[in-house]
Amino acid sequence: MQTKKATASASSNIAFIKYWGKKDEEKIIPMNTSVSMTLRDSVSTTTTVTFSSQFPKDTLVLNGKKEVGKKLEKVSQFLDVIRKKFAVHEHAAVESQNSFPTGCGMASSASGFAALAMASVEALGIAIGKKELSALARRGSGSACRSVYTGFVTWSGSFAEQIYEKSHWPELRDVIVVIDAEEKKMSSRDAMKRTVETSGAYKKRLTVVDDRVEVVKQAIGQKDFPLLAKTIMEDSDEFHACLKDTKPSVTYLTEKSYKIIDAVRRMNTDQVIVGYTFDAGPNAHLITLEEHVESVAQNIKECIGGVSIIIG
Ligand code: PMV
Repeated sequence: MQTKKATASASSNIAFIKYWGKKDEEKIIPMNTSVSMTLRDSVSTTTTVTFSSQFPKDTLVLNGKKEVGKKLEKVSQFLDVIRKKFAVHEHAAVESQNSFPTGCGMASSASGFAALAMASVEALGIAIGKKELSALARRGSGSACRSVYTGFVTWSGSFAEQIYEKSHWPELRDVIVVIDAEEKKMSSRDAMKRTVETSGAYKKRLTVVDDRVEVVKQAIGQKDFPLLAKTIMEDSDEFHACLKDTKPSVTYLTEKSYKIIDAVRRMNTDQVIVGYTFDAGPNAHLITLEEHVESVAQNIKECIGGVSIIIG
């Protein structure tokens, strides 16, 4: 039996300027430019893909558990994109392991589809460049196209690009506060479609977000932490206001999320040392500098009980 097998890892990323809304639903072309930082190995996915003509269908083992429902369907649809693009006929066995605890409420689609895209092309012996790889990962999940790069990344059209290497600002860290282990009630795919269709606040966002992208790029370029923190908090607030304005409204933040926002404001009283940002879920990403990681984590644990912290 001839099998083609490879393993690859990719880290998750946190969007400083959020992608939300698609121009093309099937191809996943974003309505707006996003900017992100790729995280460390502590928030990564390692995936092994085996293609074989002996496999009657695709299979997925995620964190040691055989998946049969929606998750397998998404993976299989992504493998269909690969099969069609590269004229491949075999089915695949996919085995994926996250470095962070299972069921901790951390989204893994960005690292998951980036690792799957990387492992698949390697297994099939297809030589493609980074941009093409990014475009491929995008078909699994939009945010995955940014995770094929390390460092600081921007995404506007069909692929993402690195704007700065990780070594440009290695002190910048993400203190992830995991406050809910539940899977999110509404997928980002469905929620963003609804926002595009119904929110006036979102229409306004589209007119200002490009300027904010430039400010964030400048803040990263100049390593201006207060400007970065202020701008990412602004973007996160605006993003969640658009969700609230969606009809019917979408709520991802919980009471604990708001407590974290208050704690961040208190920590920034004398000097801006931390900025919050929230994706499509209640967990907080607290962006700070290496020298403040311990005190930020400690402060949050003292303010809010029952949370776990991952440093990305
Ligand atoms: O590509 P998805 O479905 O993981 O959507 C990502 C949406 C946000 O995480 C909220 C923003 C972003 O740019 O990562």
